[in-house]
Amino acid sequence: MKFRPTLAALGLGVLAACATLSANADADAKRGEVLAYTCLGCHGVPGYKNAYPTYSVPNLGGQHAKYLETALAAYASGERPHQTMHAQAARLSDQDRADIAAYLQGEPITPSDQVVGTPPPATQTCVACHGADGAKTVMDDYPILAGQRADYLVQALKDYKSGKRKNPIMAGIITGVDEKDFEALAQFFANQKGLCNTKEVRESGKCR
Ligand code: HEC
Ligand code: HEC
Repeated sequence: MKFRPTLAALGLGVLAACATLSANADADAKRGEVLAYTCLGCHGVPGYKNAYPTYSVPNLGGQHAKYLETALAAYASGERPHQTMHAQAARLSDQDRADIAAYLQGEPITPSDQVVGTPPPATQTCVACHGADGAKTVMDDYPILAGQRADYLVQALKDYKSGKRKNPIMAGIITGVDEKDFEALAQFFANQKGLCNTKEVRESGKCR
């Protein structure tokens, strides 16, 4: 009887530790929250746009931590060219990136398995990797497209097509996709339940 409260406290402690160490066993989401403060100056502002070309800054909240880490490393090395994000990512250590990614991912998104609207035929090429609704990816280092901003998705597709983004997997896919279909693909995935467009996520203030 006497030991019960102690055991309960221990149990809670373990749970709290698990929540903090969500994606990567060595990542510290609490530390990541502090480091990510400056990031939210762009990513946490609804409607914030990249200038020249103009498109929305991507949603990061709920995204797979492994994908976020890969993206940050690619900006830092210059493999994924973007001046602002290069400056942001280059000053971070590997540990910083892992911690920030764990914080941004937060609680992993539960894919709904329910597609919103009619998928345009061009999505047939995408679903094997990104999932029928763009939220259930086959690998946890593949990005969630569901709920991402549509104009950002269009820009990403254009950048794969032009070779500005050099990921070999998407480079292979995009050669077979007609640029005329980019808008419909982007709108479809942006409308799915995912990153920032569920009521629950918005109301929890976790949209970032
Ligand atoms: C001045 C505004 C600005 C700030 C500050 C900023 N970002 Fe970004 N971020 C952008 C823009 C614009 C893009 C889209 C770039 C592109 O097209 O590749 C981006 C893209 C990203 C991506 C790629 C997302 C994806 O889906 O591929 C990640 C990850 C990211 N930022 C993380 C961060 C982190 C972490 C910080 C803080 C250390 C940060 N950003 C600070 C503007 C900003
Ligand atoms: C064979 C697996 C595969 C298929 C099929 C595939 N993708 Fe991808 N996709 C990936 C991977 C891996 C990445 C991450 C690439 C990177 O790091 O730049 C990615 C990235 C993306 C991104 C960038 C997301 C972001 O946050 O920046 C978009 C947009 C995208 N895919 C759309 C599509 C569309 C639309 C289709 C179908 C026409 C498709 N993909 C088919 C594997 C795939």
